[in-house]
Amino acid sequence: MASNTHTNGHANGGGRRGRLEGKVAVITGGGMGIGEAISRRFAQEGASILIADFNEAAAKAVAESLASEGTKSDYVVANVTSRADWDNIAAKVKSQFGARIDILVNNAGTAYPAQSSLTVSEANFDKVYSVNVKSIFHSVQAIFPLMIENKGGAVINISSIAAIRPRGRLTWYNSSKAAVSNASKALAHEFGAEGIRVNCVCPVLVPTQLATNFVPEFDGTPEQHTKAAQLLQIPLGRVTTTEDVANTALWLASDESSFITGVDHHVDGGRSI
Ligand SMILES: NC(=O)c1ccc[n+]([C@@H]2O[C@H](COP(=O)([O-])OP(=O)(O)OC[C@H]3O[C@@H](n4cnc5c(N)ncnc54)[C@H](O)[C@@H]3O)[C@@H](O)[C@H]2O)c1
Repeated sequence: MASNTHTNGHANGGGRRGRLEGKVAVITGGGMGIGEAISRRFAQEGASILIADFNEAAAKAVAESLASEGTKSDYVVANVTSRADWDNIAAKVKSQFGARIDILVNNAGTAYPAQSSLTVSEANFDKVYSVNVKSIFHSVQAIFPLMIENKGGAVINISSIAAIRPRGRLTWYNSSKAAVSNASKALAHEFGAEGIRVNCVCPVLVPTQLATNFVPEFDGTPEQHTKAAQLLQIPLGRVTTTEDVANTALWLASDESSFITGVDHHVDGGRSI
């Protein structure tokens, strides 16, 4: 476990209270892409941030950037498929964040290049189920006990619109996300009495490194965004931004959604209608 605690106080400490003021958030895969956007958005709203990512350089860079802006932030080098690494995350929460965890975002995820289901390797099948699904299994056993001790928490799992409206050529990625959405509902049912809310955010295509698996020619230019939106038949005419996902996760993490649990929140410009 690598760590380096930064405690410069909260960005909102001197003035207006943020929507997550006083809360501690753990964000897996917070070193880049959607996870980075969520980390930055939560920090803007006053949360303390612990990033868990297996890319140490990326996790460190985001944690240090947040600290330089006044957020209490830290990182743990963790592979979310490993129970031992989840125990390290819990240990860090206990040692550096007052044994308090209010928000867990299971965001780290993986895919493989879109292709016929006749050719997907067994290794790629195992990888998507391990990173996308087994990670949540471990998170429950490592982190939920802390939330139960603290009388509740908000869990946000980054699923996908592919869980609800799957298309071919990414069959096992899609089905791993369906498992995420289904398990989230069951967990919401099982732990509601403990004050734990479990919800999913379901984006359509988001221009990140991972997205090149879904649309190989996706180069992140505005022209490609429009083309992809047409290809995917998105009524609002654009793809999802990392900020769209972060803003939805923010609402699900905040007390504004205190009566919402077990939902798949679509962030897809109407693609799934
Ligand atoms: N990009 C999209 O189009 C899209 C659409 C729908 C859902 N999602 C989901 O959003 C989530 C984030 O995806 P993204 O597009 O930001 O991906 P990304 O590849 O840009 O970033 C993923 C981050 O997770 C980390 N990570 C990956 N595997 C890990 C592991 N085993 N242990 C710890 N950290 C790990 C990476 O180091 C990286 O920082 C994923 O769950 C993905 O399935 C993405």
